[in-house]
Amino acid sequence: MHRIVRKEQLSPEICLVECEAGDLAAAAHAGQFVILRIDENGERFPLTLYDWDREKGTITVVCQAVGVSTKKLCALEQGDNVLDIAGPLGHAVRSGTSGKVICIGGGVGTAEAYPVARFLREEGCDVTVIIGARNKDMVICESDIRKISDKVYVTTDDGTYGRKGFVTDVLAELVGKERYDLVYAIGPIPMMKAVSDMTRGKGIKTMVSLNSIMIDGTGMCGGCRVMYDGETRFACVDGPEFDGHLVDFDDLMLRGRRYRDKEKISLDRYEKDCRIGLGLK
Ligand SMILES: Cc1cc2nc3c(=O)[nH]c(=O)nc-3n(C[C@H](O)[C@H](O)[C@H](O)COP(=O)(O)OP(=O)(O)OC[C@H]3O[C@@H](n4cnc5c(N)ncnc54)[C@H](O)[C@@H]3O)c2cc1C
Ligand code: FES
Repeated sequence: MHRIVRKEQLSPEICLVECEAGDLAAAAHAGQFVILRIDENGERFPLTLYDWDREKGTITVVCQAVGVSTKKLCALEQGDNVLDIAGPLGHAVRSGTSGKVICIGGGVGTAEAYPVARFLREEGCDVTVIIGARNKDMVICESDIRKISDKVYVTTDDGTYGRKGFVTDVLAELVGKERYDLVYAIGPIPMMKAVSDMTRGKGIKTMVSLNSIMIDGTGMCGGCRVMYDGETRFACVDGPEFDGHLVDFDDLMLRGRRYRDKEKISLDRYEKDCRIGLGLK
């Protein structure tokens, strides 16, 4: 059991949850993720480590409520418990990067970009962050990101905050003016694909963090298969970070859509249960 010590609503759909998890906090590194199960009837689902406090023995995740499990987590409050949390899983962001870096976070991917940007800054990189969101209400983690970045740009699709447009508009301007050593993009698959397509021609190394469907997180179930440089890789143990120029994003999108019918049935059933007061069952 992991007690929730802090819960904050960052946007109408996105919440921040800090949980007691001493062993995880002691071993956590930027770029890694955990797999949670809310209750005994729950499925296992992955979330990136947003932050950790080794002294307090807590970890923090940021979660967008898109389906049953994420809605269940966002419905919990301070003092409630998460049944189990496995991890930290996946490779940490590799050290040894230097020079000028652009980190891009799209949607809830902004929360996943934060520990990466912070780590790269600690490594001595000059870090520019581009945050992208659909609208003003969906811009998250901006103040934390400003504290650990050299420059920050915010874009919203509808222009209600920051610049109107996509993260790739700002990226095109930046890489058109100056030489960058690395671009690190985390967000929706079409965004990571667009970023990788843009940087390929300019020869800028580009890393992405893949959010493929995961189940066990150990490389055993095969659920998170991705086609990478013409070969099969497992995002949970070989990633989640990969060279964006070698990822088959079309295959990844196809696999992500595979369970949509079942997810819809499950969400409809959960929302019906919520209406009649059986929400977390
Ligand atoms: C390494 C990794 C890190 C992630 N980090 C974050 C994070 O920090 N914050 C966040 O909000 N989300 C994160 N996600 C996505 C999150 O795991 C999914 O949104 C969640 O599993 C959806 O579950 P659900 O039951 O709420 O929705 P469902 O109805 O099951 O699914 C809704 C959509 O979420 C995706 N999804 C479903 N199951 C999984 C699964 N087991 N693994 C991955 N994607 C799935 C699918 O695209 C699906 O269409 C991460 C995913 C991965 C693989
Ligand atoms: S989640 Fe099962 S192999 Fe990666």
